[in-house]
Amino acid sequence: MAGRLDGKVAVITGACSGIGLATVRRFVEEGAKVVLGDIDDARGAEVVAELDATHPGATAYRHVDVTDPTEVEALFAAAKDTFGSVDVAFNNAGISPPQDDSILDTDLEAWRLVQEVNLTSVYLCCKAALPYMLEQQSGSIINTASFVAVMGAATSQISYSASKGGVLSMSRELGVQFARQGVRVNALCPGPVNTPLLQELFAKDAGRAARRLVHVPMGRFGEPEEMANAVLFLASDEASFITASTFLVDGGISGAYVTPL
Ligand SMILES: NC(=O)c1ccc[n+]([C@@H]2O[C@H](COP(=O)([O-])OP(=O)(O)OC[C@H]3O[C@@H](n4cnc5c(N)ncnc54)[C@H](O)[C@@H]3O)[C@@H](O)[C@H]2O)c1
Repeated sequence: MAGRLDGKVAVITGACSGIGLATVRRFVEEGAKVVLGDIDDARGAEVVAELDATHPGATAYRHVDVTDPTEVEALFAAAKDTFGSVDVAFNNAGISPPQDDSILDTDLEAWRLVQEVNLTSVYLCCKAALPYMLEQQSGSIINTASFVAVMGAATSQISYSASKGGVLSMSRELGVQFARQGVRVNALCPGPVNTPLLQELFAKDAGRAARRLVHVPMGRFGEPEEMANAVLFLASDEASFITASTFLVDGGISGAYVTPL
């Protein structure tokens, strides 16, 4: 049976865990070739070895710190050199460290770290991916923002929320700018998803998790595979009229005023 991404080459950052890893698996199942970018080299090698068993040669791992322009350029060049094109960029790496909290307690160092990893990284990845896509006159960029880009969170992480607002605005602007050149750019806005990032955030404070959960109409956190399916859709030609969108996959959280108990 034909795959929904047959013939496409994708670059995925933050590919070794959570949403990125689930998307690597889903993309490979649908026929894509995928270059995984991450800082977790040991895990990267394991994932490629595991996927080689079922989909030989479909994946390659490359070390990338998404805050480093040279490494980011090399990541996208590796996709072109190894697999022949850059059709999909899922710019997804992000962090949510505990030092990023209320504005009253967050120092400049913590603020800057989160801006670099979550926002500057997306600028760098889009800048590196676009020349390949513009030359082909086709491509799909999906940048991971968050539901906190469209609404205030009761559990503040000031730099994280600001960074995701930046990712959303940048994605919208790029989507508009390149719409007539065959390149679509969308912002994936997940609700809270059950990944190591979320688990780390709530590990020390169960009350904080409960405060977030109460706002989700579906009454549960999302699963990484549910994000991967949305990214698959945005990456595929099925989404050919979708660009510059705020693509919320959030269990209804952004639509809720009060939630049923
Ligand atoms: N989990 C959630 O609830 C949630 C909700 C909304 C948005 N998001 C966003 O989704 C994205 C993925 O989050 P996740 O929950 O899957 O996280 P995760 O912690 O499970 O995975 C993040 C991955 O990014 C990698 N990474 C971290 N810093 C990096 C760097 N400098 N360079 C390259 N790779 C780096 C990590 O090694 C890891 O493999 C993030 O942008 C996050 O902000 C997550």
